[in-house]
Amino acid sequence: MNFHILSLFPEMVLGGLATSITGRAMKQGKLNIEAVDIRDFSKDRNKRVDDYTYGGGAGMLMQAQPVYDAWESVAKKIAQNSVTKTFPGDCSKKVRTIYVTPQGTPFSQAMAEDFAKEEELVILCGHYEGIDERVLEEIVTDYVSIGDYVLTGGELAAMVIVDAVSRLVPGVLHNEVSAETESFHGNLLEYPQYSRPSVWHEKEVPAILLTGNQKEIDKWRREQAVLRTRQRRPDLFRTYCRLEKIKEALCTEKLLHTDMIAAIDRGSAKVVFWKKEEILLYDLQTDIYYHTNLSQSSRQSFLQGFVMEENDVLSKHPCNCLVLHQQKFVKRAELLFELKKTMSCNQVVYTRHEKAPVSGLYRPDGKCMPNGLVIKQLTKEHAKLVSEAYLTMDKEYVEERILSGAMIGAFVEEKMLGFCGNHNDGEIGMLYVYPDYRRQKVAKALVTYLINQKLDTGQVPFGQIVDTNESSRKLAEGLGMYTSKTQLYWLEKKENA
Ligand code: ADE
Repeated sequence: MNFHILSLFPEMVLGGLATSITGRAMKQGKLNIEAVDIRDFSKDRNKRVDDYTYGGGAGMLMQAQPVYDAWESVAKKIAQNSVTKTFPGDCSKKVRTIYVTPQGTPFSQAMAEDFAKEEELVILCGHYEGIDERVLEEIVTDYVSIGDYVLTGGELAAMVIVDAVSRLVPGVLHNEVSAETESFHGNLLEYPQYSRPSVWHEKEVPAILLTGNQKEIDKWRREQAVLRTRQRRPDLFRTYCRLEKIKEALCTEKLLHTDMIAAIDRGSAKVVFWKKEEILLYDLQTDIYYHTNLSQSSRQSFLQGFVMEENDVLSKHPCNCLVLHQQKFVKRAELLFELKKTMSCNQVVYTRHEKAPVSGLYRPDGKCMPNGLVIKQLTKEHAKLVSEAYLTMDKEYVEERILSGAMIGAFVEEKMLGFCGNHNDGEIGMLYVYPDYRRQKVAKALVTYLINQKLDTGQVPFGQIVDTNESSRKLAEGLGMYTSKTQLYWLEKKENA
């Protein structure tokens, strides 16, 4: 990911970000942080970039011209280097440009997740009393504040944003688990943690943590997280309670709604509409909308009157992808959102808490089976092979999934026999076994591995199987997964369909 920070103090920004985890990621080429000195674009003899404010008032204002020229130099570079269709050679289309200001929308984890989807992010730092409004109108796409206080300039705010976004970029955090089990995950604050010694200042570590009973430990941690959120962040706690109520409703048809429940548990689901039994969620991480209507009545309309509880969600995030959980709404949703149905599938869910047996499939310690088979996480070098074999998946998505540590392969002496992975919405999928190695339990080994990995991190393993994929259906059933009675329907923008 590339950050471009427009500032009067570029050395301050780089000095802060070139160390620690962001520094390491920069060295490894996973992040590129460029600080552009706005003063370099001043046309003034003395390199001035500020002037008095029209209408009077204390202090100086940053002028439009140097700010615009600095931004344009970056926007043009981005347009030229852009390999994607976003803005080939055309910098008039807005590059995502954040102006950090106390007047902006409060920065949040959800916002960080949204920014992390961009390939290029420009951040503009102000100084003095602010920046001439006219240039802001032309270049800024997002106004962001890091809190209700006033800093001397935007640099510290820009650094906060870069740091929070960077750690969500695949491969930046080496320990992938830590990006998941953290504060704000699942709308809860993190539980208290302890390290050695077990007694310090006569305070003992909670006894449960020393028992080795992981199930009980997980339960205790969850309770502590709920308690802590209620005490320290009543605002977050209210959101959590609301989503728990929605989860309860979704659980009346658990197999059909496992995808929605998973989005809530990831902590990235926003409620767009909830009235009686009709629910529309938006997943900030994946840009997917999920709809269900639990009412049995055939007259229940789809998003009655199209009234949104949080209108801003739909205006900021156009509905390009919608998963419906009832067939009767397909036609209306296609019309309302200008979408086209791209597939219908059944959800398959592994409902047990006990791991799936691995004997005869693979060794959980990572060593080779007697036949030489070993399961390993895929790395960047495998991206080409995967894309060539799995043609329906876009190349960029494959790379992103591999870098996120979401894909695994079955190998014998470095030869890949097949692969499988976790989609960004949490489903197990992307299963492929090369023809020469089929009917040798390779697929079973791969899916079992991912099922058990999900159970290790407290997630419910699930997948979605299209009608025509008979072999995957058999495999899922053979692994003890249960299939939803009815189907779910994927709708996408017409041009992608
Ligand atoms: N610039 C000055 N104060 C700021 C704040 N609180 N957030 C973002 N940018 C700022």
